[in-house]
Amino acid sequence: MTLLTSKTVATVKKTESSKRSTFAELVKRREKLLAPIFSQDWPNLPVVRAEGLYLYGLDGERYMDFMAAFGAVNVGHNHPRVIAAAREQMEKQVHGAVGVTLHESVLRLAEMLPEILPGALDMFFFGNSGAEAVEGCIKLARNVTGRPGIIAFTGAFHGRTYGAASLTASKSSYRLGLEPFLPSVYHVPYADPYHSAHPDDPSQCVSEALRALQTVLDRIIAPSQIAAVIVEPIQGEGGYVIPPKEFLQSLREICTRNDILLIFDEVQTGFGRTGEWFAAQVFDVRPDIMAIGKAIASGFPLGAVCAKQELMSRWTPTVHGTTFGGNPVSCAAAIATIETIRAEGLLDNAKKNGEYLLSRLRDMKKKYPVIGDVRGIGLMIGMELIVPGTDREPNTNAAKKVLNEALARGLLMYPCGMRSQVIRLAPSLNVTREQIDQAISILDQSLATAS
Ligand SMILES: Cc1ncc(COP(=O)(O)O)c(C=O)c1O
Repeated sequence: MTLLTSKTVATVKKTESSKRSTFAELVKRREKLLAPIFSQDWPNLPVVRAEGLYLYGLDGERYMDFMAAFGAVNVGHNHPRVIAAAREQMEKQVHGAVGVTLHESVLRLAEMLPEILPGALDMFFFGNSGAEAVEGCIKLARNVTGRPGIIAFTGAFHGRTYGAASLTASKSSYRLGLEPFLPSVYHVPYADPYHSAHPDDPSQCVSEALRALQTVLDRIIAPSQIAAVIVEPIQGEGGYVIPPKEFLQSLREICTRNDILLIFDEVQTGFGRTGEWFAAQVFDVRPDIMAIGKAIASGFPLGAVCAKQELMSRWTPTVHGTTFGGNPVSCAAAIATIETIRAEGLLDNAKKNGEYLLSRLRDMKKKYPVIGDVRGIGLMIGMELIVPGTDREPNTNAAKKVLNEALARGLLMYPCGMRSQVIRLAPSLNVTREQIDQAISILDQSLATAS
């Protein structure tokens, strides 16, 4: 998604001309070297250093990162404990393909994960990213059940590799020109309270979604042909959509009843983002398989398929594999990440400061009719902008303006939702109240200017 031209930062920030020319040089090199599909996102902020909540720009300015690098740095950028652990591991061994060689950090991480995961998930396949974890989950599910069908949800985002893209339905532009996708994938509606026909009665969206699922099972593909239901317990890219608890609990019940595996994609919701280690614990639902990634290693590439031993050991040897998955440095960073979340009480902080941020945003909603909805759990908070006076018409333009205005004032946030109309607020979990106050004040000024 391109919200701005590449000149954005130079124009929104009043930088010195010498610095502007440095920025122009960067843009020139980028345009020559990097595939636009890779490099032309928003805002292409030239950054020279990152620490904690802050990004330090080439323009000499400091920016508050309220999107935590897409939720990959829940303990903040370059946390000293994570850096020290990665450095120590790097001195010993940078890489060793798991299976060919064996190293302590992958085993130690696999021992630690069951302490924080829901429902006795105690065996792991490590890969390099969230999408790769999702690929592994669906390969595992099809392989062990011998069934082809996968149920996914509208609004879902599971990544960009072909299997994951086949499940993704958050924006049709993400699927453009890619067909044919993986066969036997069926999309059904997600329980989305704000966008349902009855926004004042969340139970209605649950029954609507479950009815649609039942129709697919009755009329299109029999439950006996379905390997798995894959769901984000809170939709991320799809718009920070929080379903009622009964929705996820009903999916659990339907899957159990029909021997279908329930896969939770917790790539974005994991590692404390919701104030619990995983959203499964918020909703009190135990999936059979989980995909995790992003914040697991605080920015070092790592993802994992998690399942119970009894299921994982039925995955036919050789049908899946990896070169870099379970890399020793990434695993060392992951161990340090878990230790940091524990040592610094970050789950608690995400809960408390998440509540605080949510309440400040709810106050702001009373002041600005452009804010249609504010929702969140922990530090996964979305603010949806609408065209005032309409029935929840998405306001993409207002979101763009607010994001630009905020960036110009030193606050980086990022949009999500079908029309990029939802502004996500997802800072690192160690954000302080003072930093939240500062962000709120910038957001207030940005909304006032953009309105
Ligand atoms: C829920 C979810 N699943 C999977 C992915 C893909 O992860 P990655 O970009 O690491 O491949 C993302 C990325 O945003 C995500 O939010």
